[in-house]
Amino acid sequence: MFHLLVLIAIISCSRIVAAIDLTLTQQLMLAPSRYARYALLKDEDFLFDFDNGNSSDIVTGGYLADATSETFPALVGQGVGMAIGILGPCGFNTPHSHVGGTEFFIALNGTLHSYLALEPPATNSGATPRVVNLTINALQATIFPQGSTHMQFNPSCETRAFVAAFGTDDFGRVQQFEALFSVPDDVLQDSLGETLSPAQIDNVRQHIPGLAMKSISQCRVKCGTSQHW
Ligand SMILES: *[C@@H]1O[C@H](CO)[C@@H](O)[C@H](O)[C@H]1NC(C)=O
Ligand SMILES: *[C@@H]1O[C@H](CO)[C@@H](O)[C@H](O)[C@H]1NC(C)=O
Ligand SMILES: *[C@@H]1O[C@H](CO)[C@@H](O)[C@H](O)[C@H]1NC(C)=O
Repeated sequence: MFHLLVLIAIISCSRIVAAIDLTLTQQLMLAPSRYARYALLKDEDFLFDFDNGNSSDIVTGGYLADATSETFPALVGQGVGMAIGILGPCGFNTPHSHVGGTEFFIALNGTLHSYLALEPPATNSGATPRVVNLTINALQATIFPQGSTHMQFNPSCETRAFVAAFGTDDFGRVQQFEALFSVPDDVLQDSLGETLSPAQIDNVRQHIPGLAMKSISQCRVKCGTSQHW
């Protein structure tokens, strides 16, 4: 009998511990209704600050900040997400894709250049992708379809911002060069037609993403910015 009680006590405790360990996002995901979700949220949980330090550097004196179900739990169940990007002078948001959803991109306060590679036909996946290359002025917008490779560039000597809206709270982000160069050296060598030696592959790997756009070095000369990335 005593053992049984101890066992029950242990089981109940571990249940309580498990419940306490759930993050707010996890509790919201388990909530049975919208009403139950709202009951879990304090007023201040409805406020998200894109300036709160939950941001990642983007190698150009700029940064990205993401509002997702992890960084902003109130998004759980709402089917939307958003990111802002601050691009410093000549700032370059390197080639990447979002596996989770399509991006609706708005240049907020100055012209940005965008580059989008669309998928080739499935029956000829080795074909050169169609590239859509745009100059997007302030308050103009474009889309980057789900999974597509895209990038943005600030050609000016001032800091400029963009907003990216998504129809998902889990859009994700994959930096294409980092992903590509994570495959083993010998596979890379073969895949690149033996054009690079292992030493060169290492060199490229260490210098990603500075190689990617020629206009960046021209821009830096124009703006007199130092190369610290
Ligand atoms: C966001 O930032 C806060 C404090 O700045 C930190 O406690 C929290 O873990 C961060 N969240 C994510 C998802 O990075
Ligand atoms: C975009 O198009 C312009 C004009 O056609 C060209 O000068 C530029 O090199 C292109 N940029 C990229 C990244 O392809
Ligand atoms: C654009 O907005 C960002 C974010 O508020 C700001 O840092 C930047 O200085 C602004 N740039 C211009 C040209 O107004």
